[in-house]
Amino acid sequence: MAQVLNRSIRKWWKGAYNGVVYRYRDGEVVCEDALRLLNSLRAECANVVFLDPPFNLGKAYGNNGKKADRKSEADYRDYMTKVLVRAAEVLVPGGALYLYHIPKWAIQLACDIPSYLEFRHWIAISIKSGFVRGRRLYPAHYALLYYTKGKPKVFSRPKIPRPVCARCKKDLRDYGGYKKFVESGINLSDIWDDISPVRHKNNKHRRSNELPLKLVSRILTISGIRGGLVIDPFAGAGSMLVAARQAKMHFVGGDMDRDFLDIIDARFLSQGLARVHSGGGK
Ligand SMILES: C[S@@+](CC[C@H](N)C(=O)[O-])C[C@H]1O[C@@H](n2cnc3c(N)ncnc32)[C@H](O)[C@@H]1O
Repeated sequence: MAQVLNRSIRKWWKGAYNGVVYRYRDGEVVCEDALRLLNSLRAECANVVFLDPPFNLGKAYGNNGKKADRKSEADYRDYMTKVLVRAAEVLVPGGALYLYHIPKWAIQLACDIPSYLEFRHWIAISIKSGFVRGRRLYPAHYALLYYTKGKPKVFSRPKIPRPVCARCKKDLRDYGGYKKFVESGINLSDIWDDISPVRHKNNKHRRSNELPLKLVSRILTISGIRGGLVIDPFAGAGSMLVAARQAKMHFVGGDMDRDFLDIIDARFLSQGLARVHSGGGK
């Protein structure tokens, strides 16, 4: 059976971290409130901070009832602002902050991101199965805000396959005389319509609204750095932590619901990443 620690002094913590710690060779996952986790980290320790918080839409995550995800708008914004301010502080110079949210909140929270971070992109992640509500347009994207602390330390622009017709396999776009330049794929744009974050419950941990691995791996393709540190304080089922491990990065994840730590652990175990059974050393 796996052993759980209650203390860690690994190098990313400010002094010692006291709390439930699931330790791995390359990182740790803690049962903690996101803001407390960020406040427990050393300043300027992280290369990437990824935030996929609850959207305050009254959704029940894990054992938390729907009420936990329906704060007053002022309280929610106040909490998220503190999270964003501290997330900026824990980034190394040149590190990247990503916030995944619905447009209504992304536009407000963008105003609360410290101005010393540099805005890079509002990435629109296309969804195919939104619901039209009231007198509004059909909502067809989530926002992924991307900022860096000054000039990005790393930036790698992925290429993706050219979109083709599913039946005849012909190009869906006309590249004119430029076709030879897109033979090996097209440059990724700020509209991601080749990955759907909305999936059938059979293909994800529904209780955390797990994101597809392909989506979070793409973030690390852009901003990840081998041996660097990824922080995901709303880790849920841990997609970003799996991606970090695949990108050979260190990781610190957190979720306030302990069940998700076990879900992440099982996911890691299925990939051969066992927990380390040692004391709270570095
Ligand atoms: C949208 S889900 C994250 C999903 C995750 N990206 C994945 O791929 O599985 C948000 C997670 O944040 C957790 N959570 C909610 N409030 C929290 C808080 N204040 N601190 C830490 N975790 C929190 C929930 O339990 C939930 O698992």
